[in-house]
Amino acid sequence: MSAIALVAPSQDWLPAYEAALARGWSPNTERDVSAEQRAELRADPDGFIAELLTPRRRLILDDGTRVPKLPGIVRWIVDGEFCGSINFRHVPGTEELPAYCSGHVGYAVVPWKRRRGIATAALRLMLREAWAASGLARVMVTCDEDNMASRGVILGCGGLRVADQPPLRPGGRVKNAYWIATSAPAALSATAPAR
Ligand SMILES: CC(C)(COP(=O)(O)OP(=O)(O)OC[C@H]1O[C@@H](n2cnc3c(N)ncnc32)[C@H](O)[C@@H]1OP(=O)(O)O)[C@@H](O)C(=O)NCCC(=O)NCCS
Repeated sequence: MSAIALVAPSQDWLPAYEAALARGWSPNTERDVSAEQRAELRADPDGFIAELLTPRRRLILDDGTRVPKLPGIVRWIVDGEFCGSINFRHVPGTEELPAYCSGHVGYAVVPWKRRRGIATAALRLMLREAWAASGLARVMVTCDEDNMASRGVILGCGGLRVADQPPLRPGGRVKNAYWIATSAPAALSATAPAR
């Protein structure tokens, strides 16, 4: 295994990304998008990459409202092979997020590469990119209470737990919420609460 790195989505890695989708992996953790993304990238590979790099489509909220996607960064996680994806989104000039957005960072590692420290390493790398892109000193990362893996990732990056976040939508789940420092995540880890 090579060192873990974040790369911008590109044609170079698209076949490996598609292969991961074909094995049932979904980069979206709220719903399974593997089939629809495979169809999209086959129909228009360049357009698929372009949309990841500079989103132009609008987000359709549960009530049908269309809102522009927040500016952000999408990166693919690689270790010589494709490992997963991680993204950062923010509202320029503030650490506040709109009510429909549960956190600044989302990530998903392919099942066959989990429990090797890949997501923790990727989040550490993304924290630096997020700081460089936004100037935010800290980011909000959330996870479901029973998502032990994601909680491990967050705590491994120095997450400090704050008040739970109410469900984003009716029937949704309460999320555990954490602030993570972007510039010196290791400095906060010593004060991370017990799991
Ligand atoms: C969450 C996820 C990204 C973690 O990826 P990963 O590369 O396996 O994570 P890591 O190997 O960096 O593990 C981080 C910590 O969590 C622990 N952990 C990982 N998987 C775990 C599991 N299933 N149960 C309990 N602890 C787990 C690890 O032991 C590690 O703790 P340590 O540092 O004390 O050893 C991955 O499980 C995944 O893609 N899940 C589906 C998508 C998802 O839930 N995304 C997050 C949404 S908030």
